[in-house]
Amino acid sequence: MTKTIRPRRSVLYMPGSNERALEKAKTLAADALILDLEDAVSPEKKADARKQVADTVKAGGYGERELIIRINALDTEWGHDDLEAAIDAAPDAILVPKPNRAADLDAVARKVETAGKEIALWAMVETPLALLNIQEIAGCAAHSHAPLTAFVMGTNDLAKETRARFVPGRTPMLPWLTTSILAARAFGLDIIDGVYNDFRDTDGFQAECEQARDLGMDGKTLIHPTQLDAANAVFAPSDAEVADARKIIAAFEQPENKGKGAISLDGRMVELLHAEMAKRTVALAEAIDKQAGE
Ligand code: COA
Ligand code: MG
Repeated sequence: MTKTIRPRRSVLYMPGSNERALEKAKTLAADALILDLEDAVSPEKKADARKQVADTVKAGGYGERELIIRINALDTEWGHDDLEAAIDAAPDAILVPKPNRAADLDAVARKVETAGKEIALWAMVETPLALLNIQEIAGCAAHSHAPLTAFVMGTNDLAKETRARFVPGRTPMLPWLTTSILAARAFGLDIIDGVYNDFRDTDGFQAECEQARDLGMDGKTLIHPTQLDAANAVFAPSDAEVADARKIIAAFEQPENKGKGAISLDGRMVELLHAEMAKRTVALAEAIDKQAGE
């Protein structure tokens, strides 16, 4: 069974304290919005941002865009109040920063359950310990009231913690990215790449989106509206990919191919697993079209 596909090509962060950005986001072509209470908000503004984000989520007006609240970690002075406000506002997901192990997500999930709500969790992957415990963390997909549904790579924090540098091609980070992708897929999670800080460098951004897509990521987290169009284009199946996918699906539906596991199509071998992949490509393209039509 293929689960319902939710496009998550472009996931735009904004500081929860920035009223103008929260308002502007209602008109931006982002698949999802992360209303941040954590690193993008200074300590003096935490309380105001918390109230503003909760009011914003409750008021709605964001159409098809998913709304995600990133809380502060529960071991900070703001974490518990953030979580309480987020549970009350009931966004599409709560993004948990800096988990090191499954217990850090369990604690959030228990609060959701105690409140009698059902809210998905997303988890940042941004500490060395999270990478060492990645399988255990991904297992939080099984939570009943607060299932983990996505990983968000926190590449800035990983660079800080490890002292790895940002270099074109991201060689120092590739093992972490691919390990996280494996864990995500093993447990049915989506996975969204880290941000590209230099938002005026469009070529560098485009290359990093293409790399993330080719590695298997579902989308990219963004910091500025200028990054939306490239992310939306790169993480969507191209017209040629959709046409090819439809051709593969149609070929397996031909009477002479019924019951076959592998067929020849335009000089290449195509297996049933390719038909499964083709169905996902078409479903993603249709979900994107449907969303654009709203
Ligand atoms: N979300 C929504 N709108 C945004 C935005 C964002 N992340 N970043 C900028 N905008 C809006 C601005 O409000 C402005 O709108 P306006 O023309 O209606 O006034 C427009 O886009 C152009 O913004 P610009 O002047 O180029 O950027 P800036 O100098 O105001 O802000 C940043 C630059 C980096 C501070 C800002 O983009 C930002 O806060 N990004 C998100 C940071 C974040 O959340 N980090 C946490 C995770 S890494
Ligand atoms: Mg971080």
